[in-house]
Amino acid sequence: MVRPGTRRRSLGAFYTVEGIVTAMASWVLARNPDIIIDVGCGSGRFAAAVRRLGFGGETIAIDIDPLATVMTRANLTVLGHRHATVVHGDLLRLSLADSRRGRTAFIGNPPYVRHHTLRPEAKRWAQKSGDALGVQVSGLSGLHALFVLAIAGLSRPGDLGCLITAAEWLDVGYGSALRTLFAQHLGCVRLDIGDPRTSAFGDAMSTAAIVSWEVGYSDAVSMRETRDLKTLRALTGGRAISRDTLTRSSRWRDLLHPRPHRDGLVPLGTYARVHRGIATGANGFFILSRDEAIIRELGGHVRPCVTRAHQVLSSGGVVRADKLDHVLLEVQDAADHDRALRSYLAEGIRHRVHERYLCEHRNPWWRLGGGPPPPIVATYMARQAPMFATNPDRCRIVNVLHGIHFREEVGEDIATTLVVWLNNHRDTLTGGRTYHGGLRKFEPRELEAILVPPLHELDARRVK
Ligand SMILES: C[S@@+](CC[C@H](N)C(=O)[O-])C[C@H]1O[C@@H](n2cnc3c(N)ncnc32)[C@H](O)[C@@H]1O
Repeated sequence: MVRPGTRRRSLGAFYTVEGIVTAMASWVLARNPDIIIDVGCGSGRFAAAVRRLGFGGETIAIDIDPLATVMTRANLTVLGHRHATVVHGDLLRLSLADSRRGRTAFIGNPPYVRHHTLRPEAKRWAQKSGDALGVQVSGLSGLHALFVLAIAGLSRPGDLGCLITAAEWLDVGYGSALRTLFAQHLGCVRLDIGDPRTSAFGDAMSTAAIVSWEVGYSDAVSMRETRDLKTLRALTGGRAISRDTLTRSSRWRDLLHPRPHRDGLVPLGTYARVHRGIATGANGFFILSRDEAIIRELGGHVRPCVTRAHQVLSSGGVVRADKLDHVLLEVQDAADHDRALRSYLAEGIRHRVHERYLCEHRNPWWRLGGGPPPPIVATYMARQAPMFATNPDRCRIVNVLHGIHFREEVGEDIATTLVVWLNNHRDTLTGGRTYHGGLRKFEPRELEAILVPPLHELDARRVK
């Protein structure tokens, strides 16, 4: 790799392995495009592959990284490509002549750059482009999503494309605009989803999806999960999913494994909300050992806190305050400040804790908020299913855990019954996302979707 890791990450530059490039290029060429655009071309792997497979038509390769375009030019020159234009520029600003003749195919591996590192102009561009296309674009959309918006904006009837992306947009909230674009505007033909145990991006840890489309196609979509995308030979086969099902679904990966219907169960979200634990923005300051809190005379301003998933995994279904070795600084009001607290906060300021990102965005910086502590806590990211525990002492939790809050007040016995049921059924809980290496993660909304007995049945005598 010519670029160091940090630079590659900022550009989302993870190059695609050969087997995938060839399979995607072959799918595109089988549809006889006149023009091929390699979007975010890197060293030009896709442009070179279509050339090697015999394409001699107009090829445009674009990348924002000048070094990438130099490599692409060199590669295409070696291959003797006479009709290639390599553009050093931003795909989001690319315009294609309205007079372009023929069927245009977009191909590539859009950069995976998360939304919080996007420039404000890029976010504004995304909103405007979404408006023009009639889709609502979430502020959480990363650069790969913006690439799809750009391609949708450039596409005409008859155009087509094939992209490999991280698969998360298939199921998450920000993916809604992409799902709409692929299901309705672009005409998704097929989806090949990489088995979570393999990564198509070399050093980037991510499940991959290859999405292929032809503008105007409105038949069923073929969806396939494949063991190892890296050994992919061709984009063929798969389960047929009707366009209507695709359009209505907000979790496309579930369509690969329809959930067995389990009678009588309801989504947890019907009677409980799931919230993330507190993100302090400076754990070293806000989380103290019990001893330190005593020495600093902060005992009146702290509450026992679950700080590690392990404490729930090994709790036997109930976390107790006296088993926890850490406490969380919990100050609601400036009026509560005594000498010890004032001195601790002043020390925080000396160490510039108040300037840390999350602290700076709180008012005042030391008030963590977070609502009442949850009656039930859950692990949400491990190489195993979530584990649940009641929290009768109402300890605080930090963001290594989720908290489950009942929508209406219920007794401790109901919380206990639910936890026992959840832990007894933890290996059958479906949902969440599985990452490279088998790491399973449940976002709060995903945990709200798990199926549980209805509230009125949470009675120790009836629920096993
Ligand atoms: C995931 S890499 C793919 C490289 C190559 N197509 C491949 O698959 O091997 C994404 C590429 O997009 C480029 N890129 C990032 N932002 C871009 C932008 N706004 N416009 C065009 N290219 C961009 C990066 O420099 C990087 O080369």
